[in-house]
Amino acid sequence: MKTAIYPGSFDPVTYGHIDIIERAAKLFDKLIVLVSINPAKPSTFSTEERVDFLRKSTKSVKNIEIDSNSGLLIDYLKKKNADVIVKGLRAMSDFEYEFQMALINKDMYQPAETVFLSANAASMFLSSSAMKQIAMFGGDISAFVPNCISGDIINRLKIQT
Ligand code: PNS
Repeated sequence: MKTAIYPGSFDPVTYGHIDIIERAAKLFDKLIVLVSINPAKPSTFSTEERVDFLRKSTKSVKNIEIDSNSGLLIDYLKKKNADVIVKGLRAMSDFEYEFQMALINKDMYQPAETVFLSANAASMFLSSSAMKQIAMFGGDISAFVPNCISGDIINRLKIQT
């Protein structure tokens, strides 16, 4: 059974992530979507909130598990006997950072292989941080996140004016 890990901040999940989850789940027997810590990006939502948003948004995908990890990704891979890391790429601007991560992870753990899936055209411009700004200022985020989580996101972020 081939298990792949899709790690990310997911702060919060967007349709761009959901697209990668649905496509990656078709390529592997099992996909673990892993809420991880990116020390370069302080998170807006707690780990529990991010896991909950992911669970609600991916109910229709059967062969996935949502989990969280506060340590190194490669230690989680070893724990799960997995060697495939899935990442989504939106543009060349993502590439340098993602390529560096892939090389560092492989250097630390030789079996680790990073597989990149290109974002679909509709998600190329989509980012959690842009979506959070729109929600904060009362804009419409229905094109970016599913209805089942948009209310919670707006309630948490909306600035009272
Ligand atoms: O969605 P992001 O913020 O691009 O995801 C980055 C993330 C969380 C996958 C990355 O920072 C990560 O793997 N964090 C865990 C710590 C780790 O293993 N870092 C890699 C070695 S520098």
